[in-house]
Amino acid sequence: MNRAGDPTELATGTLMLTDRLRRPLRDLRVSVIETCNYRCPYCMPAERTPEWTESDHASSADRLSFGEIEALVRSFVRLGVSKVRLTGGEPLLRRGLPDLIARLAAIEGIEDLALTSNGSLLARQARALADAGLHRLTVSLDTLDPQRFADLSGGRGRLDDVLAGIAAAEQAGFAAIKINCVVQRGVNDGDVLPLLEHFRGTAHVVRFIEYMDVGTCNRWQRAQVVPSAQLRDTIHQRWPLRALQPNYRGEVAARYAYADGAGEVGFVSSVSEPFCGDCQRARLAADGRLYTCLFASTGTPLRPFINEGDAALAQRIAHLWGRRGDRYSELRGDAPEAGKRIEMFMVGG
Ligand code: GTP
Ligand code: 5AD
Ligand code: SF4
Ligand code: SF4
Repeated sequence: MNRAGDPTELATGTLMLTDRLRRPLRDLRVSVIETCNYRCPYCMPAERTPEWTESDHASSADRLSFGEIEALVRSFVRLGVSKVRLTGGEPLLRRGLPDLIARLAAIEGIEDLALTSNGSLLARQARALADAGLHRLTVSLDTLDPQRFADLSGGRGRLDDVLAGIAAAEQAGFAAIKINCVVQRGVNDGDVLPLLEHFRGTAHVVRFIEYMDVGTCNRWQRAQVVPSAQLRDTIHQRWPLRALQPNYRGEVAARYAYADGAGEVGFVSSVSEPFCGDCQRARLAADGRLYTCLFASTGTPLRPFINEGDAALAQRIAHLWGRRGDRYSELRGDAPEAGKRIEMFMVGG
């Protein structure tokens, strides 16, 4: 048996390792771009983040190339990663993204290849993403009220574009899309039932996410959080729900089914019911830094080691994972800890 943090070679040639809290490495989130065309106040408030320009999505020397991302992902797969999610900022701003998806989809050992997007550019790109081999899609959508939607995107987004993006994704064959809604008290908590009404009866799964103290620029306060238990009660009164088993160990969202068979709803409750105990996620930022927690203050640059080859790179990652002891959400008090934390748009949630 391996000790925590001590990678062992399996008969299959893959490495199996755990961190200091005996958590394996199963899930990798890869940010392909560090900026976004939206300015959601809970993530990239316009007054505290630089303006986005068209030239931002031209290739940047600081960003990993597709070849570098592929090499890194291969090394993570050697260590047991079977689930890869592409994120941003907004990943669809990254030029040529379907080429990267095709390269990753071809890696043996990746069982699940997903992408989280704000949906604004999806209408144009859904077909190419599907053709490239993307398995699953998550779209952020906080309200169906057009004006509130515009406000929540920092005045940058249009609700109709996202709805058209979701329709295009359905057409392209994404049968069960996840719809992420970040709930803020007094902002969009009244929009929860209309959102469910819209997607009830489809295979799409709306997930309500507790507003989190990620990064340092959103000025989070606990009073702005609507605990999932409260939201669940509200929904249950309108449409009775019953709990479902997780799809896999360590699933972030708690799953519920409508008792009348009209589909599924999820709750991501990182504030009220932290799930660090089963956290098997690593995050790779667009500049090649590895973060072992969504709330980490620093990341470790992996780019300098890519030329060493897949096996050596895997050993370095294994060493970093072995030292990991993060459990921020379990330790969080009523106020976010002082000090630097990576911003959400750098590691894509
Ligand atoms: P599935 O693979 O479909 O289960 O997706 P997912 O829930 O892992 O990914 P998604 O990008 O949709 O994330 C949903 C929400 O959960 C986002 O707000 C993420 O920031 C948040 N989240 C994901 N992983 C973690 C985590 O490890 N810790 C915390 N605190 N939040 C997380
Ligand atoms: N708290 C909770 N979720 C957030 N997201 C962005 N910022 C926050 C925050 N402060 C969500 C996005 C997206 C997902 C990856 O993370 O809306 O759906
Ligand atoms: Fe962009 Fe998503 Fe952050 Fe909003 S939450 S600013 S859409 S990266
Ligand atoms: Fe994992 Fe950190 Fe989130 Fe806990 S707070 S679940 S350790 S990413």
